Amino acid sequence: MFIKFCLIQFSIFNFQFSIHLRYIAYFCQPAKPQPNKHRIMQITYYGHSCFSVVIKGKHLLFDPFITHNELAKKIDVNNIKADYILQSHGHADHIADTVGIAKRTGAKVIAAYEIHEWLNKQGVENTHPMNTGGKWNFGEFTVKCVVAHHSSGLPDGSYGGNPLGFVITSEEGDFYYAGDTALTLDMQLVPRWGKLKFALLPIGDNFTMDAADAVEASNMIKCDQVIGMHYDTFGFIKIDREKTLQIFKEAGKTLMLPGIGETIDL
Ligand code: NI
Ligand code: MN
Repeated sequence: MFIKFCLIQFSIFNFQFSIHLRYIAYFCQPAKPQPNKHRIMQITYYGHSCFSVVIKGKHLLFDPFITHNELAKKIDVNNIKADYILQSHGHADHIADTVGIAKRTGAKVIAAYEIHEWLNKQGVENTHPMNTGGKWNFGEFTVKCVVAHHSSGLPDGSYGGNPLGFVITSEEGDFYYAGDTALTLDMQLVPRWGKLKFALLPIGDNFTMDAADAVEASNMIKCDQVIGMHYDTFGFIKIDREKTLQIFKEAGKTLMLPGIGETIDL
């Protein structure tokens, strides 16, 4: 009887305890891991069309032009990290710091075939040649080279091949770096290759699209989160900031104009 009583007591106690544990387990369970596509990506602006985007710990640097950019004086080019440099085209305002950063960091430079050859002649050996329409899986991300309507001479007058835009796809999200380009119907193809989280689009006019065209581009690429680039650096591309922001606002879109050196999480 005594044993039975103890057992009952014990089992009741055990029952209550297990309920209790279940409650604790319910409230303490870790948050469900978010699908990778919703992970935050870190984007740093270095002025003009130069950005760094971190994917799986790798730093992707786009079109480095810092040393000769008056507006980017406070940026120390020697502190910029790069595992990859993505070169949209050969113009000096996109490639001026590529050789220096590539040599210092050993970053792999992804560029049009002709720019890859030119870089090899400058002593940059870690290069990956591509061309319009091609894609390559670099492990942490895939690059699809898309049409950019522009030109692409190199600073010494060498032929730079076709200018490129890049659709980057990764487990952490997809985005589009347009490079220097006009608004072009080719942009309608971009959603086939990536579900864009954000897009880096030129807005400075004169050499590229203006803000109104960039709004149209954002319709074509099906992406309402735009980061502006290629504006204000020199006289021909100075923008009216308020007017530019208004154009996007009226279209129901977000235009982000981060300060030089600023990092945003998207
Ligand atoms: Ni250009
Ligand atoms: Mn340019």
